[in-house]
Amino acid sequence: MDKEKKWTQLWLTYSPRQDMGNGELVKYVSFSGFDRKHPIIENAWAELVKGVEGMLGITPDIYEELSSDDIISSEGGTQLCGGLKVLRQAQGIKPEGYRLTEKDGILTLNAADEKGLLYGFFHILRQIALEKTLRNTDILCEPDNPLRMMNHWDNMDGSIERGYSGNSFFFDKGEVLVDERTRDYARLAASVGINGAVLNNVNVKDQATWLITERYFDKVAEIARIFEGYGIKLFLSLNYAAPLELGGPDSADPLNEDVISWWKDKFSEVFAKIPNLGGFLVKADSEGRPGPFTYGRTQADGANMLADLVKPYGGIIIWRCFVYNCTQDWRDTKTDRARAGYDNFIEMDGDYHDNVILQIKNGPMDFQIREAVSPLLGGLTRTNQMLEVQVAQEYTGQQIDLCYLIPLFKEVLDFRTYCSPDTDTVADVVSGRTFGNKLCGMAAVSNTGNDANWTGNDLAAANFYGFGRLAYATSLSSEEIAQEWVGMTYSNDREVKETVVRLLMGSRNTYEKYTSPLGIGWMVTPNTHYGPSVDGYEYSRWGTYHRADHMGLGVDRTDSGTGYVRQYHEPNASRYNSVEECPEELLLFFHHLPYTHMLKSGKTLIQHIYDSHFEGVEEVEEMIRLWDGLRGCIPEDSYQLVRERFERQLYNAKEWRDQVNSYFYRKSGIVDEKNRAIF
Ligand code: GCU
Repeated sequence: MDKEKKWTQLWLTYSPRQDMGNGELVKYVSFSGFDRKHPIIENAWAELVKGVEGMLGITPDIYEELSSDDIISSEGGTQLCGGLKVLRQAQGIKPEGYRLTEKDGILTLNAADEKGLLYGFFHILRQIALEKTLRNTDILCEPDNPLRMMNHWDNMDGSIERGYSGNSFFFDKGEVLVDERTRDYARLAASVGINGAVLNNVNVKDQATWLITERYFDKVAEIARIFEGYGIKLFLSLNYAAPLELGGPDSADPLNEDVISWWKDKFSEVFAKIPNLGGFLVKADSEGRPGPFTYGRTQADGANMLADLVKPYGGIIIWRCFVYNCTQDWRDTKTDRARAGYDNFIEMDGDYHDNVILQIKNGPMDFQIREAVSPLLGGLTRTNQMLEVQVAQEYTGQQIDLCYLIPLFKEVLDFRTYCSPDTDTVADVVSGRTFGNKLCGMAAVSNTGNDANWTGNDLAAANFYGFGRLAYATSLSSEEIAQEWVGMTYSNDREVKETVVRLLMGSRNTYEKYTSPLGIGWMVTPNTHYGPSVDGYEYSRWGTYHRADHMGLGVDRTDSGTGYVRQYHEPNASRYNSVEECPEELLLFFHHLPYTHMLKSGKTLIQHIYDSHFEGVEEVEEMIRLWDGLRGCIPEDSYQLVRERFERQLYNAKEWRDQVNSYFYRKSGIVDEKNRAIF
């Protein structure tokens, strides 16, 4: 940990590294086409100096005349050394992109703009940290997604909705916080390519409604300026009912003239007071939050009204599609929460104005360890759309249990929607490749908080790191990202790398094995969402049922059930509709099946439940053994902190195993073939 700071620097630790011939390439630096006084350039330069000093013990210097004919001699005059040439290349490289090449001792960074330069410097620092030579580099890096955003669910009292890493570092006791940590957050986010951050929780209540008022402008503007220096646009979540709560008209009807004129004045004030403001995120008509439905208006009416008014300032409205009936009757088997997003948004496809983006959760339910991909992604073909994932581990172990989520995000990105003859994956759709839109991308619910290590579990930082890297370069593999993160955070020692990467890569499957089976989801403790409670949500209003009885379990979403399968393009719809063709990991998401149903493995469904739950616990035990083998190879405080979390994970896994197995044994009356302990 940095001595003066109470928090770590995660993957920007910059501890000493082997040189690999890189020092010579970054010792002298020349800039051309960039204003060195630009805040992003100043920050990028400060970062390069900090990183190179820390890792290689060299202080880079500005050398104005650097060219390939002008290779600089080092002090002794015997050895040739080169330098780094930074050039602006406005054409031929996409915004925020860069090309890095090395020839004859000159490393050349051609950057499209300031952000491209910043990302290029972080690229160089990453290679140094990973002890990879920059010699013979020849690489073009351009972001796949125009928007790469973190969504913070931070509340103004300092708490964080679904936060598992302490309190907020943006807010405390109704005040906005701005300090060194704000900058470190921006550095970390920018280092992985994040270019937007929403500061406050999507559930905007009480004081948070006032963020768009004089009360908070100064402090929010300070954060916005810090972010600006790292290429990060600031966004705020809006309370749709703000006019009523802030003393405006007694309505939030999007077609009401008084309401429109109130918002018009409000935005003119807010954009004047907060620089670098990208726009707003809105959760409307969802889980008790107000919205246009209250006034008999559509989601498009609501979104377009706001969008038109922020347009003169270059602002955008990101409108969430998490709209469903949360007061359902569990006896009603026809209403299906999974259908809701599509049912609420598909009809108005094409009606949303061009500065509206619909933000869609990866699955139709709610960030479960396994669920189908939302049919809205690629279902909408004439609307800007953005993928929302959850890096905060609400349903995936709460940063106690290890769960590296990048493989899950990759699966979603690689999913073929069949919305067009070729470029049809979710990655294609949200990057704009499919429909040619410019406003799209990926957003993640953040897992950070004011814990010293930012993410509660040291290993959970891999999800923060990985999300950013993946959003910038969706073709990176989960394993490559894991390797980078381990190398930068811990060390490049082979054993450390192999072991930690192995732990990360297996963790999602392990978590899935000991929790709810085959895509059914839920079975969690109500409200907290940690630990098992098989029937916790079974007789509730939330629409999250497993429908188990003594014969079988699963939700019938086929043609003969809720009909949800028809929200997909073919051939996905038919594939999911058929028990034989449905991918097995999603079998119970789509079908209600008897416990004796035979799986492709030759096991019955019930035997699969028993086996996977025993395996899950065994795998956690193995994870602990692997982790123990690293003692002495990684910092002791990190070893201890993670070790303690693994102990809690093991306890959790055993609870899940025993409760799930016993529940289904009692329901089905079918004994485990292997006669293991089931209660
Ligand atoms: C989940 C989560 C809530 C959150 C909501 C959302 O339901 O449990 O805390 O507000 O998602 O995404 O808006």
